[in-house]
Amino acid sequence: MAITMRPAILLLPLLLSLFLPSSAQNCLSETFSNNRLYDRCNSLGVLSATLHWTYHASNGTADIAYRAPQDSSGFVAWAINPSSSGMKGANALLAFHNSSGAVTVISYVFNNYSPSVRDSNLSFTVYSREAEYSNGAYTIYATVALEGNKTTLNTVWQAGQVGGGVPVGHATTGENTNSKGSTNFLSGQSSSGGGGNSRLHRRNIHGVLNAVSWGILMPIGVIIARYLRVFKSADPAWFYLHAACQCSAYIIGVSGWGLGLKLGSESEGITYHSHRDIGIALFSLATLQVFALLLRPNKDNKYRIYWNVYHHLVGYSVIVLSVVNIFKGFDILDPAKKWKHAYIAIIATLGGIAFVLEAVTWAIVLKRRSRSSEKFHQGEYGTNGYGGRQHQGA
Ligand SMILES: *[C@@H]1O[C@H](CO)[C@@H](O)[C@H](O)[C@H]1NC(C)=O
Ligand SMILES: *[C@@H]1O[C@H](CO)[C@@H](O)[C@H](O)[C@H]1NC(C)=O
Ligand SMILES: *[C@@H]1O[C@H](CO)[C@@H](O)[C@H](O)[C@H]1NC(C)=O
Ligand SMILES: *[C@@H]1O[C@H](CO)[C@@H](O)[C@H](O)[C@H]1NC(C)=O
Repeated sequence: MAITMRPAILLLPLLLSLFLPSSAQNCLSETFSNNRLYDRCNSLGVLSATLHWTYHASNGTADIAYRAPQDSSGFVAWAINPSSSGMKGANALLAFHNSSGAVTVISYVFNNYSPSVRDSNLSFTVYSREAEYSNGAYTIYATVALEGNKTTLNTVWQAGQVGGGVPVGHATTGENTNSKGSTNFLSGQSSSGGGGNSRLHRRNIHGVLNAVSWGILMPIGVIIARYLRVFKSADPAWFYLHAACQCSAYIIGVSGWGLGLKLGSESEGITYHSHRDIGIALFSLATLQVFALLLRPNKDNKYRIYWNVYHHLVGYSVIVLSVVNIFKGFDILDPAKKWKHAYIAIIATLGGIAFVLEAVTWAIVLKRRSRSSEKFHQGEYGTNGYGGRQHQGA
């Protein structure tokens, strides 16, 4: 166990720093056309967006400026969601270059996840709206009524692609899944929350647990079983090491898997089908492996060979699927590139170790084979096997 746990323990501090918040830029230095000034601003934390506003308590309205970087061929959107916290129900203002090449802003209520966006009325009054594009960023200016004199509202923001002159969709990975929160227009406090940050936090935990268990411990367990076994002195220690490694990987892996299912059930409107399906297949196969351990026939049982074939087949499938699914997870979570690189380095190292050990194992096995055939010859033609062994020892 000491040997097998070490790589994981070394990796944990590295992976834990995933939880540190990403650097937020300062919204105070931003300026606006026509000398527009706002009382307050917030860096929204994701998609590099900022929100500036002035709240008028006397009539329950707010003048807002939403700014976010985006390609000129894409769109940005900022929305208030009066009924919920995500995309569904969001009352959005969307800015983009329309088919005549002008920067335009339209409003739209997202009542479902595959909308055909067109200019339509929101559930609250929009007194004015305007957008501009400069320095690689869109800015949406608007004056809106904060319905029912509410001052804390759920907000959602987004950036995506335009097709045929209208916004058509956005990425469903990384920051694009965490661009929501709540804004207190009175106090100026805003949380990239509404569950946003804690959700990102749990997604990172899911990623770390699964990368360490399925992606690192399980391959190490396979390496132990395959390469320690040839050393006669390591028998039966290799077996217990292998079982301990895989069982702890299974326990950690299943908690990561459970968290993944929970995250999946909460992620309304977005399902990562292949990531989810491979995850479920992995859980089933790994569970099968654990229970098959209990049904393992004795070494001299004639069915043992079939059990071995089954065990190896399922085991290697789990490793391959795990690595594939971890890379799919990287694409969804889209953490800083260094995490993906770190995992690639670990997997490549394990692969390299396996390659060297494979060569060593073959050398040992072939040597043993030639020895036993030599022994056989000497036994056949010499006086006894004892002499042969002495010869070999010299
Ligand atoms: C709301 O009140 C502010 C001043 O408090 C005023 O400047 C603004 O025009 C008013 N907005 C509307 C839509 O009446
Ligand atoms: C594009 O937007 C500009 C400004 O909002 C508008 O005048 C123009 O009619 C729009 N063109 C089309 C094709 O919608
Ligand atoms: C949008 O609101 C305006 C003003 O209240 C109204 O005249 C117009 O008919 C509405 N449009 C739609 C599509 O409901
Ligand atoms: C909002 O608050 C203002 C000032 O306090 C008040 O005059 C107005 O009637 C309120 N509107 C609603 C819809 O409650």
